[in-house]
Amino acid sequence: MPINEYSDGDDMSIDAAPATNSLAGVASAHASTRQPGNAPLGSGLEARGIHAWFGKHLALENVSLDFASGTVTALIGPSGCGKSTFIRTLNRMHEFIPSAAMAGEVLLDGQDIYSKGMDVTKIRLQIGMVFQKPNPFPSMTIGENVLSGLKLAQLKVENKDDLMQECLERAGLWAEVKDRLGAHAGGLSGGQQQRLCIARALAVKPKVLLMDEPCSALDPGSTLRIEDTIGQLAQTMTIIIVTHNMQQAARVSDYTAFFLSDGGPGNMIEVGPTNEIFSRPRDQRTENYVSGRFG
Ligand SMILES: Nc1ncnc2c1ncn2[C@@H]1O[C@H](COP(=O)(O)OP(=O)(O)OP(=O)(O)O)[C@@H](O)[C@H]1O
Ligand SMILES: [Mg+2]
Repeated sequence: MPINEYSDGDDMSIDAAPATNSLAGVASAHASTRQPGNAPLGSGLEARGIHAWFGKHLALENVSLDFASGTVTALIGPSGCGKSTFIRTLNRMHEFIPSAAMAGEVLLDGQDIYSKGMDVTKIRLQIGMVFQKPNPFPSMTIGENVLSGLKLAQLKVENKDDLMQECLERAGLWAEVKDRLGAHAGGLSGGQQQRLCIARALAVKPKVLLMDEPCSALDPGSTLRIEDTIGQLAQTMTIIIVTHNMQQAARVSDYTAFFLSDGGPGNMIEVGPTNEIFSRPRDQRTENYVSGRFG
């Protein structure tokens, strides 16, 4: 089905569309079943006028995006358009890259994480990150991996076993590892390792979880498992996920933001509810990208 099936101004409601595997169909099916989480742990994030440089190279220009509490937002766009750069500005990872600079504000609970006196370690506890390649500590046990963030941050917990179980359950891994918590994490499959990294991120109780292509190194089965986990987590937190997989964006996200660099610095071209971005995008460049005409 062409992507612009619904974009010609007629009244055809997306809900009335026949079952389909098209992006628009998948996104509208997701939207019809999904309620944004009531987010007891969640918190919204607001990026305002973000610019990012590597040396003199302006990689990202004036990106403003709101991430409402308890929602999942997908960041999409061709390689090199600044998705990873942008997501790294959201928890102050960008400033650790030599030569990197940035301008703009990122508000968590209304407070700019870049304002003077903010403790970077504390910010990272509230805004966690999961990377493209699963990166558990291979020589630590599964259980030690889950608790390693707490240890690094010198946080004390009352009952470590309960927390470990809770995090592994929320990451969708508990059933598979509960009998071998003392085994080395290096012995897990790639998909299990990625869910372990999610459990590790959850242990410090972040309000926001950033995920930069978390499934790109995984097989389709593991990918679906992680997507399931994202759906569960979104009940209680705010999630921002970079993905090259349009079907994935359609399956997991409530909102989608399209980035493009077009020869110059990366810009955010358009953001909206995912089913609208995939069925009737406002910008021709978004339509060209989501319909597979480039990128
Ligand atoms: N560490 C770095 N040093 C210098 N330039 C960088 C660095 N990281 C990224 N860039 C540049 O910034 C721009 C945006 O890169 P970024 O990695 O954010 O893109 P991306 O959208 O995540 O791409 P991909 O989809 O391939 O992961 C590119 O021009 C890239 O070359
Ligand atoms: Mg990237």
